Amino acid sequence: MRRFSDNFVWGVATASYQIEGAWQEDGRGPSVWDMCCQKPGFVKEGDSGEIACDHYHHMEEDVRLMRELGIRAYRFSISWSRVLPEGVGSVNEAGLAFYDRLVDELRKNGIEPYVTLFHWDFPYALYQKGGWLNPESPDWFAEYTRVIVDRLSDRVNYFITINEPQCFVALGHDTGIHAPGLKLSRRDILTAGHHVLLAHGRAVRVIREHAVLPPQIGFAPVGNPGIPASGQERDLEAARRATFEGDVAGIYWSTAWWADPIFLGSYPKPKDSDMDEVLREFLLSVTEEEMVLIHQPLDFFGVNIYQGRTVEYADTSAGYRCVKQNVGCDLTAIKWPVTPKALYYGPKFFYERYKKPILITENGLSSMDWVSLDGKVHDPGRIDFLSRYLAEYHRAYEDGVELMGYFQWSLMDNFEWAEGYRERFGLVYIDYTTQERTPKDSAFWYKQVIERNGLE
Ligand code: NOJ
Repeated sequence: MRRFSDNFVWGVATASYQIEGAWQEDGRGPSVWDMCCQKPGFVKEGDSGEIACDHYHHMEEDVRLMRELGIRAYRFSISWSRVLPEGVGSVNEAGLAFYDRLVDELRKNGIEPYVTLFHWDFPYALYQKGGWLNPESPDWFAEYTRVIVDRLSDRVNYFITINEPQCFVALGHDTGIHAPGLKLSRRDILTAGHHVLLAHGRAVRVIREHAVLPPQIGFAPVGNPGIPASGQERDLEAARRATFEGDVAGIYWSTAWWADPIFLGSYPKPKDSDMDEVLREFLLSVTEEEMVLIHQPLDFFGVNIYQGRTVEYADTSAGYRCVKQNVGCDLTAIKWPVTPKALYYGPKFFYERYKKPILITENGLSSMDWVSLDGKVHDPGRIDFLSRYLAEYHRAYEDGVELMGYFQWSLMDNFEWAEGYRERFGLVYIDYTTQERTPKDSAFWYKQVIERNGLE
């Protein structure tokens, strides 16, 4: 039996734009994702979050389902433009009231709310003012945070400021495959990312100053850790270095680019291959005062881990190289490799460097699920995948890594951004034509894991 600590938190996660729908209801303002979904070809099959899982109208049912499945904590995000249709200024009471009811409902059902302030659905009105490139964007985020804290912090302890800056900054402003769909210069991307970090710092200050209940605050970057190719010490060191020095896709993808400023108070020193005039100038432009703002004390290290990269020692200036995947290696439906050890080495390396309890804010997979003739959804692949990952996570615990908990992504199938509804990441199957919810076999399995506080 692999049991976790007594205070280990078991949860599930979702995000507003991916599940809520009701895109034009009760005064919600548009977000950049609404805008991009309207562009032909931006999302597969022309899908959009206009209806999604219609969670806005199924909220009570969804919370009840969570209780029945024994879920102890729920990480959800707030749609900024539902609460502040223009991003700043007048508050939309009906939108705010939705989250108020959600928090009450969760509490009534014994489920701990974990609020993510920003999970990519940036208000369109603020995008028109320059979005994250505008130096006022940290002020906007602070104003929005204040509205949420004033309304919810008498019932919410846990806050996560920003979800996966790597994705909405890089995919949104570099490759342009996510909203707002821009392809900016390197200098502009660095600036936008810096504003995101400043916004994070401002939000943490607002929460600490105004929260009613004692807050616990974190953020949730992507973690794509190195996994040593062998048990040799030099491969272990190579994997550790690779974890913090970025990967093939470049500097914005490295966890350290975001986490070092927040937890250590300075940007990491880039690899020579990443260092150019633009980056040098950018780093010189950052002030000490800004770094102080970004470097607010946090309570835990939240991280979304789906996969890792196998790394071995190399006699090069980098000191490591990524090992090519085996031919025919195991892949999930979205074609991400199955690498359970990411949930051992990720927590281990992040704990060593940042010295905060680890909270897996997302982990899971997309698989080819459907309702079988017997009316059930059989997803043995998900049970196997999660068992393997959780076993590795437990190994990290046995090795002394301080673990706070685990959030499975996701409670239910939902809008997988540019991939639309093709990818099914949920423990609960959604029939998008009827909005019927069917818990998959994995949901019942997860219930048992929670009851036992671990794996058989
Ligand atoms: C990361 C993101 O935070 C979430 O929105 C997304 O659906 C999952 N990973 C799966 O790609």
